[in-house]
Amino acid sequence: MMLKVTELTKIFGGLKAVDNASLEVGQGRIVALIGPNGAGKTTLFACIAGFLPINQGQVQFLGQDITGLKVHDISRRGMVRTFQITQPFAKLSVLENIAVGSHQLHARRADALAHARTIAERVGMPASMLDQPAADLTVAGRKRLELARTLATDPKLLLLDEVMAGLNPQEIHEIIGIIRKIRDSGVTILLIEHVMHAVMSLSEHIYVLSYGKIIAQGAPREIVNNRDVVEAYLGRGAADQMGAEPAQGVEHA
Ligand SMILES: Nc1ncnc2c1ncn2[C@@H]1O[C@H](COP(=O)(O)OP(=O)(O)OP(=O)(O)O)[C@@H](O)[C@H]1O
Ligand SMILES: [Mg+2]
Repeated sequence: MMLKVTELTKIFGGLKAVDNASLEVGQGRIVALIGPNGAGKTTLFACIAGFLPINQGQVQFLGQDITGLKVHDISRRGMVRTFQITQPFAKLSVLENIAVGSHQLHARRADALAHARTIAERVGMPASMLDQPAADLTVAGRKRLELARTLATDPKLLLLDEVMAGLNPQEIHEIIGIIRKIRDSGVTILLIEHVMHAVMSLSEHIYVLSYGKIIAQGAPREIVNNRDVVEAYLGRGAADQMGAEPAQGVEHA
């Protein structure tokens, strides 16, 4: 198992943001983590990747217990996350931003920059974009940069936090293709996403988080027909009203 999270709990003050959550991601898989706004998805990612200390539970990566390790250690072992709110180094060029990730493997600046170029190509960034300051990027450009920055560390497992938020349908179509290609190149992917058709077409297994708890898991088809899932998104009683229709078109606030 590439990633195994066991009974993880994260408490903020009085709030159990993640409540006894367990999940597994097998090597080479694309697995999705979905759930309403505020369910605890980003918090769970932060706990898994070492950005937040946890109150209870265990995180195993490639068969080793990594609970409590530093972000830097975890990233060197091959697990990196993207950020929902991207924060590129605004004054650095796009290429230099990607090279920050490449530096983990390439100590020399020239090597890091060369490596960054190959990564930019993998995420479909045209060469003309690479010398721009990162601050000038559109939302879609920023999302690709975020993907490239993490990919540049040569990860085994990528945790993607809403890399499709704010993109138009064409841009979403493109990024779905890029994510597939990344997986086909041997990188395992766990993704948080509100764009349901993307989740349905990309993922082989879905976990649903609601109020910090995993309330359902299964293949995409099982999940869209699950009453608990529909109600988590739309409120109690919704499943009856909707004939348990999939939670499609649920927008990210
Ligand atoms: N650093 C923090 N301190 C206190 N509370 C926090 C902190 N980070 C998140 N929370 C709270 O924890 C809960 C889960 O937040 P989180 O951002 O993980 O949800 P999410 O599922 O990622 O939501 P979204 O889909 O909107 O991104 C929310 O109630 C949020 O307000
Ligand atoms: Mg979030």
